[in-house]
Amino acid sequence: MRVVEGHGFGKLILVGEHAVVYGHPALAFGVDRGTTLRVAGAEGPTQLHMPGPRAPAPDPRLRALMSEHFGDTGAHLTLTTDLPIGRGMGSSASLAVALARAHLAWNSRPADPDALWSHAMATERRFHGNPSGVDVACALHGGVLRFVRGAPPTFTSLACPAWQVVVLDSGVAGPTAELVERVRRQRPRIDLLLERVGELVGEAEEALHDPPALGRLLDENHAILRQIGVSSPTLDDLVGLARGAGAWGAKLSGAGGGGVVIALAEDPAPILQAAQAARVPAFVVRPQPGGPP
Ligand code: MEV
Repeated sequence: MRVVEGHGFGKLILVGEHAVVYGHPALAFGVDRGTTLRVAGAEGPTQLHMPGPRAPAPDPRLRALMSEHFGDTGAHLTLTTDLPIGRGMGSSASLAVALARAHLAWNSRPADPDALWSHAMATERRFHGNPSGVDVACALHGGVLRFVRGAPPTFTSLACPAWQVVVLDSGVAGPTAELVERVRRQRPRIDLLLERVGELVGEAEEALHDPPALGRLLDENHAILRQIGVSSPTLDDLVGLARGAGAWGAKLSGAGGGGVVIALAEDPAPILQAAQAARVPAFVVRPQPGGPP
């Protein structure tokens, strides 16, 4: 039986979400979680299985995508992910990259970087309307990236730092397309704030291996995200919880509205304990070194 697989990494944005849509840089990293699509040749109609407790919600767009790509080829598709869905951790981009890799392999086409990029971006646009591409870049390459939107985009791989982040899950999906639109409507009034976010990215690059300094930049980035209206009382509480438990800094990560908060900390244990006491799902991730799996 013929079998091919495609994988895309999940991601977290350290500094720069929303501003990156308007050409400012962002600093983001691939995480050691992601999405895998396995395609196995079989008799009969194409079928999609999504096993496991973290299976994506049965989204009609997903079934449409799969039937467009694999039609009546008689493939058995198995989609697995260990990312929380719709929480700012790049679940849709990791799916888009997994699909691009699997589709090219299924059609015996080389995994050429340009083909992967345009294939995955076309899928991501169907989920998010006006994506900057930072999620797809992380899903494709992993590692720590400085990303600037453009045609073509530019991304620079940075040396992987030794710190870890605590991820606190608000339990609510963030409506990415709606939040991107909310930010767009506030322009040009908020342009100076978006510019400041771009500067913070430069400062964060300098401080990448100095987590206490980096933490202070995360705090400032969160304050700006609040000002542009993409945080929420729950996200602000989670940031407060992390800081109260000793974090060097904390912020929402991704589009906001829901999703996750990330906290940089020397010792994640007090934050994990505080989260458990507040019944907030929390876990630790490290940037994983770049390169396709
Ligand atoms: C979403 O992960 C990040 C945003 O900046 C949107 C984008 O860059 O496409 C909010």
